[in-house]
Amino acid sequence: MRMYDIIMKKRNGGELSDEEITFFVEGYTAGTIPDYQVSSLMMAIYFRGMTPRETAVLTDRMAHSGDTVDLSAIPGIKVDKHSTGGVGDKTSLVVAPVVAACGVPVAKMSGRGLGHTGGTLDKLESIPGLSVSVEQERFFHIVQEVGLAIIGQTGDIAPADKKLYALRDVTATVDSLPLIASSIMSKKLAAGSDAIVLDVKTGSGAFMKTLEDSIRLAQAMVQIGEHNGRRTVALITDMDIPLGHAIGNSLEVTEAVETLKGHGPADLTEVCMQLASNMLSLAGKGSLPECRKLAEEAVSSGRAFEKLKGMAAALGGDVSVLDDPEKFSKAPILSEVKAPRSGYITRMQTEQCGIASAVLGAGRESKEDAVDPSAGIVLAKKIGESVTEGETIARLYTSKGETLEQARQILLNAILIGAEKPAPEKLIYARVTIDSVERY
Ligand code: URA
Repeated sequence: MRMYDIIMKKRNGGELSDEEITFFVEGYTAGTIPDYQVSSLMMAIYFRGMTPRETAVLTDRMAHSGDTVDLSAIPGIKVDKHSTGGVGDKTSLVVAPVVAACGVPVAKMSGRGLGHTGGTLDKLESIPGLSVSVEQERFFHIVQEVGLAIIGQTGDIAPADKKLYALRDVTATVDSLPLIASSIMSKKLAAGSDAIVLDVKTGSGAFMKTLEDSIRLAQAMVQIGEHNGRRTVALITDMDIPLGHAIGNSLEVTEAVETLKGHGPADLTEVCMQLASNMLSLAGKGSLPECRKLAEEAVSSGRAFEKLKGMAAALGGDVSVLDDPEKFSKAPILSEVKAPRSGYITRMQTEQCGIASAVLGAGRESKEDAVDPSAGIVLAKKIGESVTEGETIARLYTSKGETLEQARQILLNAILIGAEKPAPEKLIYARVTIDSVERY
């Protein structure tokens, strides 16, 4: 078999066989097929697409390219949750403790932020002392003792995806539906949970900018999950506006704590409750309305917040900052962004809001960069709210004064102010299961 022929077949719109997909995934992981041939194939896939069978086989081969986690030692149905990435998306920090507080174990491997999107691991590591690098044995022990653990990848999970993702990142082939679906689902399958709830973001801060593309991506991922024996449901949620008010690591942990204590922002609370209800329902805890009630009780009783503290303590974190977020070390520089004119906020270019936060130090440009845990943005105003000229619309936090002007300009360009109050945007657009797309 020759890589040249595989590239040509896909370039001409052909369907790759199981053997051809196995050949290029194995060869690329082993280093016997060079980057330039695989990048050419990625571009051919970008333009020609893949059939559901090709996507399923690609996912399977990537999932089995390295270690797979066997969670069977942990009793009960384990449910995972994955977001396709967004700005201000701290839902895992809320949803996982809520679900664990309802008796469903959560054994979750999360990622770091890259580009304009944040990552759960960076947020958790803003808790002083907390380490997300733990051995598998300790990971299982924490899940059994506390009910949840969110950690970095253990072992060598889906190494084929690691190489392919890095290559796609620099060859303009990230936003291809079959490549995103197989990349995400290969890691989810290898991570071993029995059921998966996907939070597929849609809008200006998401990979998929339109609702129809987001639904297609969700359907592809749900099919892959179910085909592999994992109950899988996807919610399509809005990323045309940052979620909540905080963007940046310790700022987001603070907002997650407020939400777990029952007084978080309404949009973040609603998305978290819906995700948690779906996870609980997949774990057999009842219908969606029954599970919603369970999730709400987990928050109002304080049990969910205790779960977050339990996990943070087990990972070596100083939980006093969760009891009193004022104890988080503060960024030395705080600067306010003022509204340049009066009116209503009509639009927020969400990706740009994420970039402004990254410029302040909350994000990284390359995987090796360190993030500043205290840097970021707190939005004082969001879409639909009225502002008067000179009123504060956002607060910028940084340790690097030289970044302030650039971040301020990016944010001012990203926040549009108009004369008319815009119609409210939906928070959740659809729920996708193996046999239905329920639009809201
Ligand atoms: N997240 C992933 O893990 N992979 C993609 O391709 C896109 C988002």
